[in-house]
Amino acid sequence: MQEKTALLFKTAFEEDIFNGLTNHNKYLPSKYFYDSKGDRLFQEIMAMPEYYLTDSEFNILTNFKEQIADLCYKENRPFNLIELGAGDGKKTKILLEYLSETNVPFNYQPIDISQNALDQLALSLKKEMPKVTVQKIQGTYFEGLKKIEASTDKKIILFLGSNIGNMEHKNAIDFLSSIRLYMNDDDLLLVGFDLKKNPQTVLDAYNDSAGITAAFNKNILTRINNTLQGNFNLDTFEHWETYDPQTGTAKSYLVSTIEQVVTIEELELEITFKAWETIHTEISQKYDEQSVHWIANNAGLSIEAEFGDDKNYYKNYIFKKK
Ligand code: AVI
Repeated sequence: MQEKTALLFKTAFEEDIFNGLTNHNKYLPSKYFYDSKGDRLFQEIMAMPEYYLTDSEFNILTNFKEQIADLCYKENRPFNLIELGAGDGKKTKILLEYLSETNVPFNYQPIDISQNALDQLALSLKKEMPKVTVQKIQGTYFEGLKKIEASTDKKIILFLGSNIGNMEHKNAIDFLSSIRLYMNDDDLLLVGFDLKKNPQTVLDAYNDSAGITAAFNKNILTRINNTLQGNFNLDTFEHWETYDPQTGTAKSYLVSTIEQVVTIEELELEITFKAWETIHTEISQKYDEQSVHWIANNAGLSIEAEFGDDKNYYKNYIFKKK
């Protein structure tokens, strides 16, 4: 196997792919699922009947928008509603609509890496809710938070979709602790957590019969092929999902069905796969009450409120600085 020093990598993508595929247990970071094709596949996943997470959070925001709005506007102070990773804002629109209809004074500040996603979202809001003021913030979550750090306005930060679940517990604590640094005492952080449930329901959500999740998982190989001149043959990899009901961790893998050598020209790399060797690509953590309390506590946050869906599949927690 070739050695490559960090200095020779042109991008973080190159370095991450190299590190993941030369590791003893091969892995690829799930953040690289999301190029334009990956974004489209994820939209399809969110609309699948098996992917209950979307409906659950929709249900919560619909049922509890009034209580959530009351908490946001508790001291009758105008606020900035900041959304981390806004995407198409489908679920957030429930809240935006309610706040707008009830004449609550607020600005909506979606932060997203994709300028295109932000432009689309702002355009649709202009049509659907012309009263809502939108300030698009392009960048990573922390670049975005840094841009608005100086403002003393009250902040309500949204982190929906159980995106927290794509982080291991330690990373989730570090992530929430870092967000906490941008919060003042009255600010709120609303986070969506997918809960432990019938293990089969979880497995079905990540292993749909139409094969959309499999295509989403394999898209990372296509991305390597296209960007780094790789020659992964997608037909020789299988999508595989596991769920441990004790730890609540769902894991996605790509399994090589044959012994093979894959070349990635841009990295001057040849990767050998034994038959049935795995690449670990994603974790999607499911939580119980204790784990959320433990994470919040370790991140220096206290629970201000919590709202569950009708099926007890999912919860939105509202945190404050402890
Ligand atoms: C974005 N994230 C919360 C999704 C999840 O449920 O882990 C990504 C996903 N992976 C497969 N299906 C959906």
